[in-house]
Amino acid sequence: MAADGNIDNLLHETRRFAPSEQFQANAVAHADLYDSAAKDLPAFWGDQSRELLHWHTPFTTTLNWSNPPFAQWFEDGELNVAYNCLDRHVEAGNGDRIALNWEGEPGDSATYTYAQLTQEVKKAANVLLGLGVSRGDRVAIYLPMIPEAVISMLAVARIGAVHSVVFGGFSSESLRARIDDAAAKLVITADGGWRKGKVSALKPAVDASLTIGGEENPSTVEHVLVVRRGENDIDWAEGRDLWWHEQMAAADTEHEAQPFPAETPLFILYTSGTTGKPKGILHTSGGYLTQVAFTHKNIFDLHPETDVYWSTADVGWITGHSYVVYGPLANGATQVIYEGTPDSPHTGRWWEIIQKYGVSILYAAPTAIRTFMKLGRHIPDQYDLTSLRVLGSVGEPINPEAWVWYRDVIGGGTTPVVDTWWQTETGAIMVSALPGVTTLKPGSAQVPVPGIHIEVLDDRGTPVGKNSGGLLVVAEPWPSMLRGIWGDPDRFVETYWNTFAGKYFAGDGARLDRDGDIWLLGRVDDVMNVSGHRLSTAEIESSLVSHPRVAEAAVVGASDETTGQAVVAFVIVRSVEPDDDDADGDGDGQDDSHAARDNGTEASAASGSGTPPEDVDALAQELRAHVATQIGAIARPRQVFIVAELPKTRSGKIMRRLLRDLAEGREIGDTTTLADTQVMTVISASVG
Ligand code: WTA
Repeated sequence: MAADGNIDNLLHETRRFAPSEQFQANAVAHADLYDSAAKDLPAFWGDQSRELLHWHTPFTTTLNWSNPPFAQWFEDGELNVAYNCLDRHVEAGNGDRIALNWEGEPGDSATYTYAQLTQEVKKAANVLLGLGVSRGDRVAIYLPMIPEAVISMLAVARIGAVHSVVFGGFSSESLRARIDDAAAKLVITADGGWRKGKVSALKPAVDASLTIGGEENPSTVEHVLVVRRGENDIDWAEGRDLWWHEQMAAADTEHEAQPFPAETPLFILYTSGTTGKPKGILHTSGGYLTQVAFTHKNIFDLHPETDVYWSTADVGWITGHSYVVYGPLANGATQVIYEGTPDSPHTGRWWEIIQKYGVSILYAAPTAIRTFMKLGRHIPDQYDLTSLRVLGSVGEPINPEAWVWYRDVIGGGTTPVVDTWWQTETGAIMVSALPGVTTLKPGSAQVPVPGIHIEVLDDRGTPVGKNSGGLLVVAEPWPSMLRGIWGDPDRFVETYWNTFAGKYFAGDGARLDRDGDIWLLGRVDDVMNVSGHRLSTAEIESSLVSHPRVAEAAVVGASDETTGQAVVAFVIVRSVEPDDDDADGDGDGQDDSHAARDNGTEASAASGSGTPPEDVDALAQELRAHVATQIGAIARPRQVFIVAELPKTRSGKIMRRLLRDLAEGREIGDTTTLADTQVMTVISASVG
């Protein structure tokens, strides 16, 4: 939903759902959280942290904000994140509790108790140490949703190293960029994983990524640890590649978790920003674990003895970090993880899994809900979903219709739906209802989490009142806040902290309704949100212009009924075939194509009108595939329009707003600031 979406319609939503009796028991305790947080925010988080985590060395200070925006939480305390997620539950007598119910896409499955998971992580920690990975080293993880993904992350955390999980759907180029940026020493991958009914290979992408640029461009990677999952044929680099199962079989089973200072880096997770280069968001240990555990427990009303929790997110995204690995395991929860897609081998797969494991808490994305809505309720109606008692939504705004359908059809008309707003950068949920106390309002994320200070500001930085819109900021530091952008402190300050001095600028538009509840309106920058995944317009544009036929490209996120937004590209093609150097589409190609771009308008205007239609279609398909290969399938444009011109201001800035109007089939807005006011007529004609 774009910031200029039809918010007025949404605000007329009148349906309300008060907490049901089932949740009343917690209501008092939950209401207290708001009160105590309001009294003293850092002290509140200190209390929560002591209650939820085990500190080897207790902290004596909570927040150090003497050098903003570089916060330190619980800085003199020491803990081990993996110990908190594993050993302590075993020591408390819960070793036989199931930690993971893993379901493979083809229907195979595996179960790990807390004792077994602890054992596996200890072995994996010893494998890492044996490969020379030590405290502070970076490890790239490129795996499907299999237990080894969770085990790897925890093993890295256990030894004080730093993981960088790269979503398995990203291309070898994207993987390499992330490996290089973090200077990763080790890659943990699999031969392949199951997706959409077949094995999708992963190891070949790692091989390709490590040879990008040839011998002159060696990577920092010393070893590739390979989990056998897909059993697909793969190439093997002797000396570099090692089988996970062989290493694990030989590993020592004893490993004592050492305490590390609270601010020890835990992971880097890359996310799209407004430039072509993804940002390596850095999270650290004590504050992060405190807030993910706190939010997971309270927002989902978790009772670890009886609940079965399932987040459908992949570990490649922040939700998979915070609400598959760290939050649930810190809380000793029993959870389900699923390898595949919701429609494999049939469209009832999710509901079948819920029935099979008796899932009581489900955390999913609006895109999936809307897809199921379209397929019809007769599919979920075939399954017993009565175990469900709390439903969560994350990643993008959930429209009231989808919210109500989710509650009625999946939640049997009784479950609360908590719409949770947060970001890779915030590390944990920041805005959400609490099922015990909040009267729910479909479509609104509603209220800040206890201990979180949210404001909606106008352009001058003044808080807007009720019934007004503006920009969402976090006005006070919070425990799971990002600690920086890996290797780029200036970009960190610039991106998040310079818009409104001392306050964190999230990049989202928001509106307060007449009760003061928060409605998220989508990004206000050039970041798109497709199926709950963040994509940068600039990154896709630079991928497009790296194609030899492309002179210039503009990408917009157009509203899409199912995926929230969809990538739509407008491309000016080059009439002259480039030389071979450009054709391999490496970074230099962009500079080369720049020259062509200067006279591109004229040349491609001719080609735009003169290219036979079937060539235009073929080229558009080729460009869609090009982006998928370069960045990953999630970035593949829904449509590529070959156009003769792009709408620009006199200073040469592309007016994406006008292209969005076109892509969404709306009347074209104000064109008076265009350098050539006729250009939209020309473009509309070629879009057809
Ligand atoms: C959007 C995902 C509306 C928002 C956890 C944010 C949401 C971006 C919601 C972060 C929500 C996330 N309602 N919008 N409940 N949750 N967003 O980093 O635009 O992948 O800035 O983190 O997703 O995406 P990210």
